[in-house]
Amino acid sequence: MQKWGDTARSPARMEGRLYIGEDYKKEFHPQDYLKTYYAFDLGNVAEYEILKFNLKNLFETFSPGGVGGDILIDIGTGPTIYQLLSACEAFREIIVSDYSEQNLREVEKWLKKEPGAYDWSPVVQSVCELEGDRSRWQEKEARLRRTVTRFLKCDVNQPHPLGPAQVPPADCVLTTLALECACSDVHAYRAAIRNLVGLLKPGGHLVTAVALRLKEYMVDTKKFFGLHLEKEMVEKALQEAGCQVLRCQYAPFSYSEAHCINDGICFVVARKGPGA
Ligand SMILES: C[S@@+](CC[C@H](N)C(=O)[O-])C[C@H]1O[C@@H](n2cnc3c(N)ncnc32)[C@H](O)[C@@H]1O
Repeated sequence: MQKWGDTARSPARMEGRLYIGEDYKKEFHPQDYLKTYYAFDLGNVAEYEILKFNLKNLFETFSPGGVGGDILIDIGTGPTIYQLLSACEAFREIIVSDYSEQNLREVEKWLKKEPGAYDWSPVVQSVCELEGDRSRWQEKEARLRRTVTRFLKCDVNQPHPLGPAQVPPADCVLTTLALECACSDVHAYRAAIRNLVGLLKPGGHLVTAVALRLKEYMVDTKKFFGLHLEKEMVEKALQEAGCQVLRCQYAPFSYSEAHCINDGICFVVARKGPGA
Protein backbone atom coordinates (compact mmCIF):
# COMPACT_ATOMS: atom_id res chain seq x y z
CA MET A 1 0.00 0.00 0.00
CA GLN A 2 1.20 3.43 -0.90
CA LYS A 3 2.36 5.47 2.06
CA TRP A 4 1.43 9.13 2.12
CA GLY A 5 5.02 10.08 2.73
CA ASP A 6 5.93 8.18 -0.44
CA THR A 7 4.62 10.83 -2.78
CA ALA A 8 6.98 10.68 -5.69
CA ARG A 9 5.42 7.73 -7.49
CA SER A 10 1.78 8.44 -6.78
CA PRO A 11 0.01 9.73 -9.92
CA ALA A 12 -2.74 11.30 -7.80
CA ARG A 13 -0.19 13.16 -5.73
CA MET A 14 1.88 14.17 -8.73
CA GLU A 15 -1.22 15.54 -10.42
CA GLY A 16 -2.36 16.97 -7.09
CA ARG A 17 -5.76 15.64 -8.12
CA LEU A 18 -8.39 15.39 -5.42
CA TYR A 19 -11.34 13.26 -6.46
CA ILE A 20 -14.83 14.38 -5.48
CA GLY A 21 -18.45 14.41 -6.67
CA GLU A 22 -18.96 12.83 -10.08
CA ASP A 23 -15.49 11.24 -9.88
CA TYR A 24 -17.08 8.48 -7.76
CA LYS A 25 -18.71 7.14 -10.91
CA LYS A 26 -15.37 6.23 -12.55
CA GLU A 27 -12.47 6.64 -10.16
CA PHE A 28 -13.64 4.81 -7.01
CA HIS A 29 -12.72 1.17 -7.48
CA PRO A 30 -14.62 -1.09 -5.08
CA GLN A 31 -11.95 -3.78 -4.80
CA ASP A 32 -9.25 -1.19 -3.99
CA TYR A 33 -11.46 0.33 -1.30
CA LEU A 34 -12.16 -3.09 0.22
CA LYS A 35 -8.47 -4.04 0.21
CA THR A 36 -7.51 -0.80 1.93
CA TYR A 37 -10.17 -0.56 4.62
CA TYR A 38 -11.57 -4.08 5.12
CA ALA A 39 -8.69 -6.57 4.65
CA PHE A 40 -7.04 -7.30 7.95
CA ASP A 41 -4.55 -10.04 7.12
CA LEU A 42 -1.87 -7.39 6.52
CA GLY A 43 -2.34 -6.01 10.03
CA ASN A 44 -4.44 -2.92 9.38
CA VAL A 45 -4.98 -2.49 13.12
CA ALA A 46 -6.46 1.02 13.01
CA GLU A 47 -8.98 0.08 10.32
CA TYR A 48 -9.93 -3.02 12.31
CA GLU A 49 -10.53 -0.99 15.51
CA ILE A 50 -12.88 1.32 13.61
CA LEU A 51 -14.76 -1.60 12.08
CA LYS A 52 -15.12 -3.21 15.54
CA PHE A 53 -16.43 0.07 16.98
CA ASN A 54 -19.02 0.32 14.22
CA LEU A 55 -20.05 -3.34 14.45
CA LYS A 56 -20.57 -3.10 18.20
CA ASN A 57 -22.68 0.05 17.86
CA LEU A 58 -24.70 -1.46 15.01
CA PHE A 59 -25.28 -4.57 17.12
CA GLU A 60 -26.46 -2.50 20.10
CA THR A 61 -28.69 -0.35 17.90
CA PHE A 62 -30.44 -3.18 16.05
CA SER A 63 -30.62 -5.79 18.83
CA PRO A 64 -34.09 -6.95 20.02
CA GLY A 65 -36.01 -4.11 21.67
CA GLY A 66 -33.97 -1.54 19.73
CA VAL A 67 -34.40 0.04 16.30
CA GLY A 68 -36.35 -2.18 13.88
CA GLY A 69 -39.35 -2.34 11.57
CA ASP A 70 -40.31 -2.97 7.96
CA ILE A 71 -37.91 -1.02 5.75
CA LEU A 72 -34.31 0.09 6.20
CA ILE A 73 -32.61 2.13 3.47
CA ASP A 74 -28.82 2.11 3.49
CA ILE A 75 -27.42 5.23 1.82
CA GLY A 76 -23.94 5.28 0.27
CA THR A 77 -23.63 1.53 0.81
CA GLY A 78 -20.40 1.43 -1.16
CA PRO A 79 -19.09 -2.08 -1.82
CA THR A 80 -19.62 -3.16 1.82
CA ILE A 81 -22.22 -5.24 3.67
CA TYR A 82 -20.82 -5.21 7.24
CA GLN A 83 -23.23 -2.39 8.21
CA LEU A 84 -26.24 -4.59 7.39
CA LEU A 85 -25.30 -7.68 9.39
CA SER A 86 -27.13 -6.80 12.61
CA ALA A 87 -29.85 -4.79 10.84
CA CYS A 88 -30.93 -7.77 8.72
CA GLU A 89 -32.32 -9.41 11.88
CA ALA A 90 -34.43 -6.34 12.72
CA PHE A 91 -36.01 -5.40 9.33
CA ARG A 92 -38.26 -7.19 6.87
CA GLU A 93 -36.62 -5.49 3.91
CA ILE A 94 -33.32 -3.68 3.24
CA ILE A 95 -32.77 -1.35 0.28
CA VAL A 96 -29.16 -0.59 -0.59
CA SER A 97 -28.18 2.51 -2.54
CA ASP A 98 -25.11 4.26 -3.87
CA TYR A 99 -24.00 6.99 -6.26
CA SER A 100 -21.81 4.61 -8.21
CA GLU A 101 -22.99 1.62 -10.27
CA GLN A 102 -19.80 -0.33 -9.65
CA ASN A 103 -20.34 -0.27 -5.89
CA LEU A 104 -23.87 -1.59 -6.24
CA ARG A 105 -22.55 -4.26 -8.59
CA GLU A 106 -19.94 -5.32 -6.01
CA VAL A 107 -22.63 -5.78 -3.34
CA GLU A 108 -24.80 -7.66 -5.82
CA LYS A 109 -21.85 -10.00 -6.52
CA TRP A 110 -21.71 -10.92 -2.84
CA LEU A 111 -25.46 -11.30 -2.51
CA LYS A 112 -25.58 -13.61 -5.51
CA LYS A 113 -22.43 -15.54 -4.47
CA GLU A 114 -20.80 -14.76 -7.82
CA PRO A 115 -17.14 -15.60 -8.53
CA GLY A 116 -14.76 -12.90 -7.29
CA ALA A 117 -17.18 -11.68 -4.60
CA TYR A 118 -15.49 -10.31 -1.50
CA ASP A 119 -15.17 -12.76 1.41
CA TRP A 120 -17.00 -11.17 4.34
CA SER A 121 -17.16 -14.40 6.36
CA PRO A 122 -14.64 -13.36 9.08
CA VAL A 123 -16.68 -10.19 9.69
CA VAL A 124 -19.97 -12.12 9.63
CA GLN A 125 -18.50 -14.50 12.23
CA SER A 126 -17.51 -11.63 14.55
CA VAL A 127 -21.02 -10.17 14.35
CA CYS A 128 -22.50 -13.59 15.18
CA GLU A 129 -20.10 -13.78 18.11
CA LEU A 130 -21.34 -10.39 19.36
CA GLU A 131 -24.89 -11.69 18.98
CA GLY A 132 -24.01 -14.75 21.04
CA ASP A 133 -23.54 -17.60 18.55
CA ARG A 134 -20.55 -17.52 16.19
CA SER A 135 -21.60 -20.82 14.64
CA ARG A 136 -24.70 -19.36 12.94
CA TRP A 137 -22.73 -17.18 10.49
CA GLN A 138 -23.93 -19.05 7.39
CA GLU A 139 -27.53 -18.64 8.51
CA LYS A 140 -26.90 -14.90 8.90
CA GLU A 141 -25.36 -14.63 5.43
CA ALA A 142 -28.45 -16.37 4.03
CA ARG A 143 -30.72 -14.05 5.99
CA LEU A 144 -28.98 -10.93 4.68
CA ARG A 145 -29.15 -12.29 1.12
CA ARG A 146 -32.94 -12.72 1.53
CA THR A 147 -33.48 -9.34 3.20
CA VAL A 148 -31.83 -7.07 0.61
CA THR A 149 -34.54 -6.60 -1.98
CA ARG A 150 -33.46 -3.59 -4.06
CA PHE A 151 -30.36 -1.79 -5.36
CA LEU A 152 -30.94 1.87 -6.14
CA LYS A 153 -28.90 4.74 -7.46
CA CYS A 154 -28.79 7.64 -5.04
CA ASP A 155 -27.42 11.12 -4.66
CA VAL A 156 -27.57 12.58 -1.16
CA ASN A 157 -27.16 16.06 -2.60
CA GLN A 158 -30.57 15.89 -4.26
CA PRO A 159 -33.77 16.77 -2.37
CA HIS A 160 -35.07 13.31 -3.40
CA PRO A 161 -31.90 11.22 -2.99
CA LEU A 162 -33.45 8.10 -4.57
CA GLY A 163 -34.74 9.98 -7.62
CA PRO A 164 -37.89 8.62 -9.25
CA ALA A 165 -37.76 5.23 -7.47
CA GLN A 166 -40.99 4.47 -5.61
CA VAL A 167 -39.94 3.79 -2.04
CA PRO A 168 -42.32 3.88 0.93
CA PRO A 169 -41.31 6.01 3.93
CA ALA A 170 -38.67 4.05 5.81
CA ASP A 171 -38.47 2.99 9.44
CA CYS A 172 -34.73 3.56 9.34
CA VAL A 173 -32.15 5.29 7.17
CA LEU A 174 -28.62 4.08 7.77
CA THR A 175 -25.50 5.72 6.39
CA THR A 176 -21.93 4.80 7.31
CA LEU A 177 -18.86 6.85 6.34
CA ALA A 178 -20.56 8.28 3.26
CA LEU A 179 -21.89 11.83 3.76
CA GLU A 180 -18.50 13.20 4.79
CA CYS A 181 -17.26 11.96 1.40
CA ALA A 182 -20.29 13.05 -0.64
CA CYS A 183 -20.74 16.60 0.68
CA SER A 184 -18.37 19.38 -0.33
CA ASP A 185 -19.06 21.68 2.65
CA VAL A 186 -21.03 21.89 5.88
CA HIS A 187 -23.94 23.61 4.20
CA ALA A 188 -24.25 20.66 1.78
CA TYR A 189 -23.90 18.23 4.71
CA ARG A 190 -26.84 19.83 6.54
CA ALA A 191 -28.91 19.73 3.36
CA ALA A 192 -28.01 16.04 2.81
CA ILE A 193 -29.11 15.19 6.36
CA ARG A 194 -32.44 16.95 5.66
CA ASN A 195 -32.74 14.99 2.41
CA LEU A 196 -32.22 11.70 4.25
CA VAL A 197 -34.66 12.63 7.02
CA GLY A 198 -37.18 13.18 4.19
CA LEU A 199 -37.00 9.43 3.44
CA LEU A 200 -38.13 8.52 6.99
CA LYS A 201 -41.56 7.98 8.53
CA PRO A 202 -42.25 10.29 11.48
CA GLY A 203 -40.74 8.46 14.44
CA GLY A 204 -38.28 6.64 12.13
CA HIS A 205 -34.59 6.48 12.97
CA LEU A 206 -31.53 7.89 11.25
CA VAL A 207 -28.40 5.94 12.17
CA THR A 208 -24.99 7.15 11.06
CA ALA A 209 -21.28 6.47 11.57
CA VAL A 210 -19.07 9.44 10.74
CA ALA A 211 -15.29 9.75 10.38
CA LEU A 212 -14.61 13.05 12.17
CA ARG A 213 -12.20 15.80 11.14
CA LEU A 214 -11.71 14.01 7.85
CA LYS A 215 -9.49 15.63 5.26
CA GLU A 216 -8.64 13.17 2.52
CA TYR A 217 -8.58 9.44 2.02
CA MET A 218 -6.77 7.14 -0.35
CA VAL A 219 -8.29 4.43 -2.50
CA ASP A 220 -5.16 2.77 -3.87
CA THR A 221 -3.21 5.71 -5.35
CA LYS A 222 -6.25 7.97 -5.69
CA LYS A 223 -6.91 10.66 -3.18
CA PHE A 224 -10.54 11.50 -2.38
CA PHE A 225 -11.91 14.58 -0.66
CA GLY A 226 -13.22 14.33 2.91
CA LEU A 227 -15.27 16.92 4.78
CA HIS A 228 -14.07 18.16 8.18
CA LEU A 229 -16.92 17.54 10.66
CA GLU A 230 -16.93 17.80 14.43
CA LYS A 231 -19.27 15.61 16.51
CA GLU A 232 -21.28 18.69 17.50
CA MET A 233 -21.82 19.61 13.83
CA VAL A 234 -23.30 16.16 13.17
CA GLU A 235 -25.65 16.47 16.15
CA LYS A 236 -26.67 20.01 15.18
CA ALA A 237 -27.41 18.99 11.57
CA LEU A 238 -29.70 16.23 12.85
CA GLN A 239 -31.47 18.54 15.30
CA GLU A 240 -31.96 21.21 12.65
CA ALA A 241 -33.50 18.57 10.39
CA GLY A 242 -36.12 17.87 13.08
CA CYS A 243 -34.53 14.86 14.78
CA GLN A 244 -33.89 14.14 18.41
CA VAL A 245 -30.43 12.70 19.02
CA LEU A 246 -30.91 9.60 21.18
CA ARG A 247 -27.33 8.39 21.33
CA CYS A 248 -23.98 9.76 20.22
CA GLN A 249 -21.01 7.51 20.82
CA TYR A 250 -17.53 8.96 20.26
CA ALA A 251 -14.23 7.07 19.95
CA PRO A 252 -10.80 8.67 19.48
CA PHE A 253 -9.89 6.36 16.57
CA SER A 254 -8.10 7.39 13.42
CA TYR A 255 -7.31 5.41 10.30
CA SER A 256 -3.71 4.55 9.38
CA GLU A 257 -2.09 7.74 8.20
CA ALA A 258 -1.10 6.00 4.99
CA HIS A 259 -4.78 5.62 4.15
CA CYS A 260 -6.71 8.50 5.56
CA ILE A 261 -6.37 11.71 7.51
CA ASN A 262 -9.07 11.87 10.19
CA ASP A 263 -9.34 12.32 13.92
CA GLY A 264 -12.05 10.44 15.80
CA ILE A 265 -15.23 8.69 14.84
CA CYS A 266 -18.81 8.94 16.05
CA PHE A 267 -21.87 6.75 15.87
CA VAL A 268 -25.22 8.48 16.19
CA VAL A 269 -28.82 7.30 16.55
CA ALA A 270 -31.51 9.95 16.04
CA ARG A 271 -35.30 9.87 15.79
CA LYS A 272 -37.39 11.93 13.40
CA GLY A 273 -39.86 14.12 15.28
CA PRO A 274 -43.56 14.33 14.38
CA GLY A 275 -43.27 17.78 12.75
CA ALA A 276 -40.13 17.13 10.66
C1 LIG B 1 -15.98 5.89 1.98
S1 LIG B 1 -17.25 5.11 1.06
C2 LIG B 1 -18.27 4.40 2.33
C3 LIG B 1 -18.78 3.04 1.95
C4 LIG B 1 -19.47 2.21 3.04
N1 LIG B 1 -20.73 2.79 3.44
C5 LIG B 1 -18.59 1.99 4.27
O1 LIG B 1 -19.11 2.08 5.40
O2 LIG B 1 -17.41 1.64 4.12
C6 LIG B 1 -18.19 6.52 0.52
C7 LIG B 1 -19.37 6.12 -0.34
O3 LIG B 1 -20.17 7.28 -0.60
C8 LIG B 1 -20.68 7.15 -1.92
N2 LIG B 1 -21.07 8.48 -2.43
C9 LIG B 1 -20.26 9.46 -2.92
N3 LIG B 1 -21.01 10.51 -3.31
C10 LIG B 1 -22.29 10.19 -3.06
C11 LIG B 1 -23.53 10.88 -3.24
N4 LIG B 1 -23.56 12.11 -3.77
N5 LIG B 1 -24.67 10.27 -2.87
C12 LIG B 1 -24.62 9.04 -2.31
N6 LIG B 1 -23.50 8.33 -2.11
C13 LIG B 1 -22.34 8.90 -2.48
C14 LIG B 1 -19.52 6.55 -2.69
O4 LIG B 1 -19.91 6.00 -3.93
C15 LIG B 1 -19.00 5.53 -1.69
O5 LIG B 1 -19.63 4.30 -1.85
